[in-house]
Amino acid sequence: MKKPYQIQFEQIGAPHLGYISVAEIQDNIPFEIKRVYWTYFTPNHVERGNHSHRALEQVIICVAGTIYFEFESVGGETFEFELDEPSQGIYVPSGYWRRMKFSHNAVLVCMASQLYDEADYIRDYNEFKKYI
Ligand code: TYD
Repeated sequence: MKKPYQIQFEQIGAPHLGYISVAEIQDNIPFEIKRVYWTYFTPNHVERGNHSHRALEQVIICVAGTIYFEFESVGGETFEFELDEPSQGIYVPSGYWRRMKFSHNAVLVCMASQLYDEADYIRDYNEFKKYI
């Protein structure tokens, strides 16, 4: 089973110029990107996520603020990440339950391998734990 991992994007530039980072298939994105979306203005007390995907793979970047992530496999293996640098991302394979907490200024950019499809979601934790 594939595991989530952190991606360190190259920072092209210098402190006195600013930086560019690049996400590119066949380089640091391990799938063909079909869709990009972003989330923002999430209040501190809100926990997002609480679902798993049957097939969707994602690379998630925190372009501003701080985002805390927890991933859990069906078998109970857990992975935690805190992203607070625009040069950092995470690869998220299908099949992981995720929970996310945001600083209010956080902006999450998600690059996704599939178009939006509610049928790809598992939103019930007990159903997820039985999923093969
Ligand atoms: P969801 O993927 O559950 O977001 P999060 O993991 O950040 O909590 O989506 C939240 C809501 O937005 C849900 O009702 C589905 C809807 N949605 C769309 O309509 N289109 C999309 O592309 C996405 C990602 C979500």
